[in-house]
Order: sequence, then C-alpha cells, then structure tokens
Amino acid sequence: MKMFESIKEQIKDIKKIVFVTGAGISQESGIPTFRGKDGLWRNHDAMKLATIDAFYNNPKLVWEWYNERRENIFAAQPNLGHKAIAELEKFAEVIILTQNIDGLHQKAGSSKVLELHGSIVKIKCSVCDFKDEMITEFSEIPPLCKCGNILRPGVVWFGESLPQDVWQKAMIAASECDLMVIAGTSLVVSPANILPIYAKQNNAILIEVNPENTEMSSEMDLVIRNTSAITLPELVSVFN
Ligand code: APR
Repeated sequence: MKMFESIKEQIKDIKKIVFVTGAGISQESGIPTFRGKDGLWRNHDAMKLATIDAFYNNPKLVWEWYNERRENIFAAQPNLGHKAIAELEKFAEVIILTQNIDGLHQKAGSSKVLELHGSIVKIKCSVCDFKDEMITEFSEIPPLCKCGNILRPGVVWFGESLPQDVWQKAMIAASECDLMVIAGTSLVVSPANILPIYAKQNNAILIEVNPENTEMSSEMDLVIRNTSAITLPELVSVFN
C-alpha cells in the first residue's frame, strides 16, 4: 500500500479502470520482452521476423520463430501481476488493452481483454478470409490454407494496421476510464502508445508501472519504478 499512499484517496472508489500492458508484464512469467535489458529483439532482428515483407521473403523462418515463441508461451503461467489485474474485477470494471499475444491475462482470469496485436494461438490465411485458432501443430511449415495460399500467424506485424473494430473499442475504453494503469510497456509502438493520451483527455488518473523510464513517464500522475508482479498486488489492496 505504501507505493500508492500518495494517490490512494483519489483512486480507491474508482469504478472504471483500464490497463495498457506490454511484454514487461509477462517478463516475470519467463517470457522475454522486446526492448528491455533481456530484449527479445536483441538476439533476433525484428525486421527479419515480424513484418509482412519478412514473412513473404522467408515464411518458413517466421513460422519457425513463432512456433518457438508459442512453445515458450504455452509453458508460461500467469504471474502475480496478471493475477492482481484479474482480482481487481471484484472491485471495479477492468478492461485490459494488451499488446501481448501470449493470452496470459485470460489465463489469469481477466474477462475483458482486447488483444491489440492479435494472438499467438490464432492463424489466418494470407489471402482469403480464413481465420482460426491454431488447433494443432503443422506437419510442414509454412502451412497451407484450403485455398492453396500460405497461412500466417494471427498477429499484427510492424507496418500493419490493427483490426479496426479492436482499435475502436480500445480508443473508447481509454477515453471513458477514470484510471489508466500502464504496466510493462515501453510505449514505443503506435498506435497503442497514444491510448494514455485519450485517457488524459478524459481527466483519467495515469499510473505507470515499469522498472525503467518510458516515452510518457513525464505525463503520469504516479510512476512506480518496480515490476508489475511486485506492484500490482499492492494496487489491489487499495481497492480491497
Ligand atoms: N514489470 C514491469 N515492466 C517491465 C518488467 C516487469 N517485470 N520487465 C520489463 N519491463 C518493462 C521494460 O522496462 C520495458 O519498458 O516492460 C517494457 C517492455 O517494453 P517492450 O519490450 O518494448 O515491449 P512492448 O512495449 O510490449 O512492445 C510493444 O512492440 O515488438 C512489438 O508487437 C511487439 O507488442 C510489441 C510492441
């Protein structure tokens, strides 16, 4: 509770909370982040693995990397940060706008999760409108759609736009909340990084939970330089 002492009276009765989360919230579940100290991109060239051009240049390499990430993610469990956000649903309406594709918020029990960048378990055809949860591993990669074209991971790559319906809902949630907690994201990638601006325009209170500085630290009402698994359970005790 000491972390939130300065802001406790202002937030304890808030009923509309939005979380904007990124790779950092899953770091304590053993899933590496992209740009932090253990950054995933450090030993993978992002532009080789997460763009539509890279996919068409070498679909097998991109599939191999996503299959490797999928194995890592399936072995991961939600940590105390994910679980704290799920528990907050007992005290307020909680909507999570996550950039993560690992499904750990849902696994922790959160019921309102918008996956801005898609999901590691989803697949879709690169040409026709076939979409599906990925139900089995594929014998050969890249897997083919019934239409004969190659299937791709159901994620948003650099340079691609977010699904319009998902982004609309995210903007509305950000514009209507009274408290926005930004946890585990460097706020480097757009358009997710403008969500705190929508919240601020609605006079929401902004709290950042991140061991490191972000692009918007100076805009926050409270900055907690600690990890989400340590910090978020304390946030729950403010509402409990
Ligand atoms: N708790 C909280 N924050 C943490 C923790 C932790 N245990 N560990 C690291 N962080 C912070 C880092 O300091 C960093 O600011 O999490 C942030 C992770 O930032 P990124 O690696 O840039 O991840 P993210 O912000 O989710 O990236 C956005 O970029 O690569 C694309 O599509 C990918 O969704 C991703 C997007």
